[in-house]
Amino acid sequence: MSCRVCSGRLSEFADFGPQPISDAFVEPGDTREEFSFRLAVGICQTCTMVQLLEEVPRERMFHEAYPYLSSGSAVMREHFEALAKTLLATELAGPDPFVVELGCNDGTMLRSIADAGVRHLGVEPSGGVADLAAAKGVRVRKEFFEEATARRIRDTDGPADVVYAANTLCHIPYMESILSGVDALLRPDGVFVFEDPYLADILERASFDQIYDEHFYFFTAGSVQRMAQRSGFELVDVERLPVHGGEVRYTLARRGARRPGPAVAELLAAEGSAGITDPATLRRFTARVEHIRDALVELLTGLRDEGATVAGYGATAKSATVLNYCGIGPELVPFVCDTTPAKQGRLTPGSRIPVRSPEAFSGPYPDYALLFAWNHAEEIMAKERAFRESGGRWILYVPEVHVV
Ligand code: SAH
Ligand code: TYD
Ligand code: ZN
Repeated sequence: MSCRVCSGRLSEFADFGPQPISDAFVEPGDTREEFSFRLAVGICQTCTMVQLLEEVPRERMFHEAYPYLSSGSAVMREHFEALAKTLLATELAGPDPFVVELGCNDGTMLRSIADAGVRHLGVEPSGGVADLAAAKGVRVRKEFFEEATARRIRDTDGPADVVYAANTLCHIPYMESILSGVDALLRPDGVFVFEDPYLADILERASFDQIYDEHFYFFTAGSVQRMAQRSGFELVDVERLPVHGGEVRYTLARRGARRPGPAVAELLAAEGSAGITDPATLRRFTARVEHIRDALVELLTGLRDEGATVAGYGATAKSATVLNYCGIGPELVPFVCDTTPAKQGRLTPGSRIPVRSPEAFSGPYPDYALLFAWNHAEEIMAKERAFRESGGRWILYVPEVHVV
């Protein structure tokens, strides 16, 4: 086990035990043994990159039936529309601009670019979601982005002004190939913009469910800056984002091509003074996670014993870590509701809880709803106001177990 970025030594700080593929929802009656791997996370003693200690083969996660849809949240649709608008007004304002998105999923971001008539390309290995993007008028290649893909795109489409990736770069262990690919694809003064869950927010909120098979890296400004430098890039901008429980949008440019903005030094300084990669901080996180596990199991067991009904809300990939780490199954949470068609009628991986459509939530309302999609709390609680008004209570488990 060595760092996938710099080959440095990794030191483990949390172990969630055996876990399934988080987005592999099981057909009822399918008795085949599920794929399992050890979900553990460590920090590189050399470059401070936090990463998983075991890598799941990419084809097991991202394939024709990959169910996650970017368009499942109104807040996220607005978020990506706003980003597209910003790019169109800035980096893509020159003559005949070209943007490439890695992991464009169902085309939620690129659709706005396509609608503006701007040259674009999505690179998306998951066939089903790529088809949804194409149906929105988005140009998409069904493959994994890596150096060879980048060179082919450069040959056919010419250099890109922007390479963009949301919640995708952190999914890709083979970083050297990615950055060489971006280097081959970008114009000399082009930018690589990516946004992913921010380690500092995960540690502060104890949001341990951000750790699952697909999330291989947990970035900070410090680790990204070192990673960029190794491949001839420089971190020139950072922006904290409120989505998905706290993210950072990083902008890389070729070394010397752009002057880093003041936000970079500010975030680096904040990370330093908060000691986010100190062993003591990481140990504190692990202790809080163990406490959350015990408190959640105690709460759910108590509710079951007193005859209260509980439903899960949001069959998230994140919930796989919670359910399988805590050992929660249908005996404590009889069903989970979710808007994603490809998840409905199936069972959650490992924990085997039936997934139903959101209509099942109100028929009749449970006494408690365990909010697995806590990153969409505002949107969901607004939509489900009637649940709360009829006396229902939400259970949240980050930053600690509480009922609202
Ligand atoms: N950008 C979207 C989707 C994130 S889910 C959003 O933020 O909502 C991550 C996506 O990355 C999946 O659709 C997955 O198929 C894709 N992906 C995984 N590995 C990839 C790779 N090497 N190149 C391009 N896309 C990849
Ligand atoms: P999300 O938290 O975005 O990601 P991940 O799977 O990576 O943890 O997933 C949100 C899930 O919640 C998704 O399956 C769709 C579902 N959902 C609803 O059922 N109703 C809603 O109103 C929203 C916003 C999401
Ligand atoms: Zn390293």
